[in-house]
Amino acid sequence: MTRLRLPGLIDPHVHVRDLNQSHKEDWDSATAAALAGGITTILAMPNTQPPITDGAALAQYQAAAQARARCDYGLYFGAGPGNVESAARFAPQVAGMKMYLDSTFGDLKMDALSLLVEHCARWPKESPLLAHAEGHHVASAILAAHLAGRSIHICHVSRKDEIELIARARDKGYAVTCEVCPHHMFMTLDDCGLAPGYLEVRPRLATPADVAALWAHLADIDCFATDHAPHTRAEKESEKPPPGFPGLETALALWLTAAHQGRLTLEDLLARMHTNPRRIFNLPEQPDTWIEVDADCEWQPDASRMYSRAGWTPFVGWRLRGRVIAVTLRGQLAYDGERVLAQPGTGRDVMNSSYSV
Ligand code: NCD
Ligand code: ZN
Repeated sequence: MTRLRLPGLIDPHVHVRDLNQSHKEDWDSATAAALAGGITTILAMPNTQPPITDGAALAQYQAAAQARARCDYGLYFGAGPGNVESAARFAPQVAGMKMYLDSTFGDLKMDALSLLVEHCARWPKESPLLAHAEGHHVASAILAAHLAGRSIHICHVSRKDEIELIARARDKGYAVTCEVCPHHMFMTLDDCGLAPGYLEVRPRLATPADVAALWAHLADIDCFATDHAPHTRAEKESEKPPPGFPGLETALALWLTAAHQGRLTLEDLLARMHTNPRRIFNLPEQPDTWIEVDADCEWQPDASRMYSRAGWTPFVGWRLRGRVIAVTLRGQLAYDGERVLAQPGTGRDVMNSSYSV
């Protein structure tokens, strides 16, 4: 067995749900899934029900996370038409602000250009600003942020024209960072083998040319996120299947398998799952935190053995190589390869000033 000791991984894009959508996932199940996947910090998206677009909702989710989280976490604030003036006040409490420029699950899509421009101008420059932006909206987001003199992080990049535009902006010195997700790097719409409903995800699965372009631009990709977006089997099989894939418990093994195949190095992986997200999202160091991986272990994802409430995985039956066998979080064994040992309520908010005390 080749036993690797790696730093605790950071996932900057997770849909935890909770409150009115706890049947899909909550802070307990999501953070258990994260730990089982070798991830010790998650940053949680605001397209919840209710959405995190005001102080009252933020306080509700902070309380839910404090009570139930088993790993460390940050919350994102959601940009909307109603909070242009108030949003900035919440920046010290959150890991960043998310702007939805394209349709997806939830009701946070912003259509007006003026909203994009105003949010870019007002959100504090030292706090990350993220965009769900596809196609032309990648250009809009980059320009609006640049004109406001601030950085922007483009979420789940999936297409050739998008990554090429991002690469050109970076070449010109624009402060643009980006992430990709395993499903856009290892699957295409035509070869995914997923049934209708299950294959729905935003951005959509793309073409072989898109996947090839993303791999060719690995140097311009800062983070590997999961966009863990759990929906139940019944929801995926319904008349109106919501978009989204669970991914916390498969991401590291997919990347390790690609590393074993020589498609990237372990250093490439650690830069994108630890060092870069830590820098981009200003995250504190987790003292005495590391994960151990059996790099030779071959296994097949099986949702019945997972912690996520989604109850399915788009990677079922894939032959993966590399498995998490232990996670130590702040000096305590949090996962032993079979069971999550960290208890609900032990995770810490990375934006809390007493984080490392
Ligand atoms: C996400 C969800 O379900 O919350 N769905 C998805 O397809 N990725 C929303 C999102 O990230 O766009
Ligand atoms: Zn998402």
